[in-house]
Amino acid sequence: MIILDGKALSLRILDGVREKISHLACQPHLVVILVGDDTASRIYVNNKKKAAENTGIKSTIIELPLTTTENELISIIRELNQDNGVTGILVQLPLPEHINKNKIIDEISPKKDVDGFTPENVGRLAIGLEPYFYPATPQGIIMLLDEYKIPIEGANAVILGRSNIVGKPMAHMLLKRNATVTICHSYTKELESKIKTADILISAVGKKIVRCKMDRNNSCIVDVGIFRDTNGKLTGDVDFDLVSPSCGYISPVPGGVGPMTIASLMYNASKVY
Ligand code: GUN
Repeated sequence: MIILDGKALSLRILDGVREKISHLACQPHLVVILVGDDTASRIYVNNKKKAAENTGIKSTIIELPLTTTENELISIIRELNQDNGVTGILVQLPLPEHINKNKIIDEISPKKDVDGFTPENVGRLAIGLEPYFYPATPQGIIMLLDEYKIPIEGANAVILGRSNIVGKPMAHMLLKRNATVTICHSYTKELESKIKTADILISAVGKKIVRCKMDRNNSCIVDVGIFRDTNGKLTGDVDFDLVSPSCGYISPVPGGVGPMTIASLMYNASKVY
């Protein structure tokens, strides 16, 4: 069994991004908008800022109070869309309940949408047109699979979770590479038998859900989940000790998908349209 070392690959990708930026005529500028005071979101946003600064990307965090209205947020995004000095806009999710997430995402200029979440970028991906940006987590996972030369064409890819951030774009990206894709979710029947058929298993649920041995000893398991267990230890969706002896490749938590997501986001933020 081989560990998919996302930390090591992410450092090489960030080196490449830093090198590319050092030759750019204009410095990319990423603006991250954080509404409210969710602790986890604040940590994610600070990590994004740190990674941007380390690669030579200018970054600004706009912190807005929980009471911010939908219209106030829309006006800020419209101003950033018009600002030629801003090359990337990211609205940290989740947003407070009184704000319609999809309405906000729809306001971001597709050419500054470093998350790849706008209808235009999602639609371009879905119909096989190149989006301006691919969503960071699935893009980072594809980079990791390619690094370890995991065959995607013709593979049975099983995705657990159907979120707009991971599951759905992951399915499109794997389809684009000619995998046979199954998306499983909370209503899926006989989940374990579907998990076992995977050549590539991507788990993005946020619960300890993969607890069975795999049927194919060369299968590749990518764990997107990250949360703290009852002892406060960081863990993922996959029962690593149980599952890892039955597969060919597995990504650890931490040190797998997490650092790849950040590197992939910086790769996006270095693109200037
Ligand atoms: N919240 C959790 N993941 C993400 C992400 O990839 N982008 C944004 N904007 N918010 C998130």
